[in-house]
Amino acid sequence: MPRRARLPNPSATAAIIQKRSELRPTIGLVLGSGFGGVTAAMTIEREFAYRDLPGFPTGTVPGHAGRLLIGAWQGVPLAVLSGRAHYYEGFEMAESTYSIRVLAELGIQTVLLTNAAGGINPKFKIGDYMVLSDHINLMGFNPLRGPETNGLNRFVDLSAAYDPELRGRALAAGKQAKVKVHTGVYLAVCGPSFETPAEIRAFNSLGADAVGMSTVPETIVARQHGLRVLGISCITNAAAGLGGEGHVVSHLDVMELAEQRQGHAVRLLSHLIPELPT
Ligand code: HPA
Repeated sequence: MPRRARLPNPSATAAIIQKRSELRPTIGLVLGSGFGGVTAAMTIEREFAYRDLPGFPTGTVPGHAGRLLIGAWQGVPLAVLSGRAHYYEGFEMAESTYSIRVLAELGIQTVLLTNAAGGINPKFKIGDYMVLSDHINLMGFNPLRGPETNGLNRFVDLSAAYDPELRGRALAAGKQAKVKVHTGVYLAVCGPSFETPAEIRAFNSLGADAVGMSTVPETIVARQHGLRVLGISCITNAAAGLGGEGHVVSHLDVMELAEQRQGHAVRLLSHLIPELPT
């Protein structure tokens, strides 16, 4: 029996949230490593621990808090997923993307997915940002595998998975915030081990600019619900083999760099969020 069958209907979980919150945001924000500081800048109306929301997975990686926040930033109502459940933690794809379905049921129309990624493109410096123009799914799995969900089309078109108009707004926000924002292709792997230098060379020749372990399943599910998707990566490290003699890729370094860049992320998003269509 597919595991998705055991998850509650996302509309039931959305109803629990809406019963306890008056705000009806149309913008959703998924906070990856390096973007958590955003919550401190928000006015929070309601906060839900994932463990109190049926179907929500509880993550295991330090630095991923596991809270859904309903609130506003500079007057813009937002639903924020603070902390995500990664596939590498052992969750099924359907579990790790369930919260995106709940966002869709809450009335979210635009979702901003953020993450930390390793830089492959030699032009990228550590601490720069990349707005996703496209992705390559090398996770080996697709979150839409299995029975059809609530009658939604499973043969989702991904020709323009990342909304070009929103991308333009992110680049403009980067200029205003004086934060370097590139455009590029995000390649997703399962993790949790980092890549080998040979894999990174291969990914480079496939057209990838950055590599990470999240976001792609969420994008696919969001597109199935017809949400407009914007993806932004914080380039936290040089990908394997690209960091010079003796360089290694470490989760601790990724988290430390992500932490250092919180201020930049807040600045970037404070210019971006008010410009997103509601
Ligand atoms: N590889 C995969 N995922 C990552 C990396 C990386 O180098 N950095 C941050 N997330």
